[in-house]
Order: sequence, then structure tokens, then C-alpha cells
Amino acid sequence: MKTSTDAAMDPASPEEPPVSRVSGMEAGTEQRSEDTDDIHSELSTQPGLRLRLRLRNEAQRLSTQHRQLDTFFEMVVVALERGSLQGARASFIRFRDALEAHLTLEDQVFFPAFRGLRPALADTLTGLIEDHERFRRELDQLHDLLAVGSAEAFASGFDTLAEAVSVHERKEEKILSDTRA
Ligand SMILES: [Fe+2]
Ligand SMILES: [Fe+2]
Repeated sequence: MKTSTDAAMDPASPEEPPVSRVSGMEAGTEQRSEDTDDIHSELSTQPGLRLRLRLRNEAQRLSTQHRQLDTFFEMVVVALERGSLQGARASFIRFRDALEAHLTLEDQVFFPAFRGLRPALADTLTGLIEDHERFRRELDQLHDLLAVGSAEAFASGFDTLAEAVSVHERKEEKILSDTRA
């Protein structure tokens, strides 16, 4: 069954109106809360095997979302190459909402669980959360650039953000592959 986060990440229906940032966050709150409750409950009652198995399954979900973000990024690039500012705006909103949903899922559910399961990751996770905050600031700046029609500045900034997200994802993928091992 798809969750609200999965829906925000689904690249199969690019013609759908983008999920607004506010409604997307509100829609995702219930599911994230349930996930958080479940994982915290498991941490308190059985901090070993069950949580480890649950995280192994969910690690695959995060990896899938990373690939979907790549698809959304490509959609923005294609729109820019076509010279379609309107298309770039629509695709960027989709990318931004999907990235925000993904970052929030990591911040509120997975990183706390990883922190409980693998305390040695504390500094790494703190660095990843700082990256998330930087990405959010840059997304806001990019949104403002598109709003005033600064396509060139937007394209440059978007490329820089995409590279930073890619480096960030590789760090996370290392953690996820260790979790699945
Ligand atoms: Fe992340
Ligand atoms: Fe991620």
C-alpha cells in the first residue's frame, strides 16, 4: 500500500498537480507519526532483531526514493533544456515536495531509529541532518529565483544542489547497505 510519502515520490504521474508543501507535510504527518510510534515502541520492548529486520526493509524504501529523486531532477533539467520556464517551475515544485517529504521521513523516523540501533553513527547522522537544513534553505532560494524568472541563476544553483544531494545520498546509501548486510 502506498503511503502519502510514496505518493509524493511517485514519478509515474508527472501530469498530476504537485502536492503543495503544506498539504504534503500535513498529509504525511499521520503516517510518519505511526511509523515513529511503531519504531519507538519496538525500541522500548525489543531493541534487537525486530527493529533490525524492520529497518532492513525500510532501508530499501529509502534507496528507492533516492532513485525517484534522480528522476524528478532529470525532469527539471529537461524542462530547462527545452526553454520552458513554466515546465521547469512545475517540475521543480514536484522535486522540492518529494525531497522535503524524503528529508522529513529521515529526520523524524529513520535517523532516530538508526541513532538508537547504532550509537556510533551519532556524529554522521548529525552531519546529515545539517545537510537537510542546508538543502531546505537552498530549495527556498531556488524557488525565489524561478519566481522572478532568473532561469540561468536557477539552473546553476539547481545543478549545485543536485550534486550536494548526490554526495549526501552516497553517505546514506553506505549506512543503508550496512543495515541490509
Ligand atoms: Fe538525507
Ligand atoms: Fe536520503
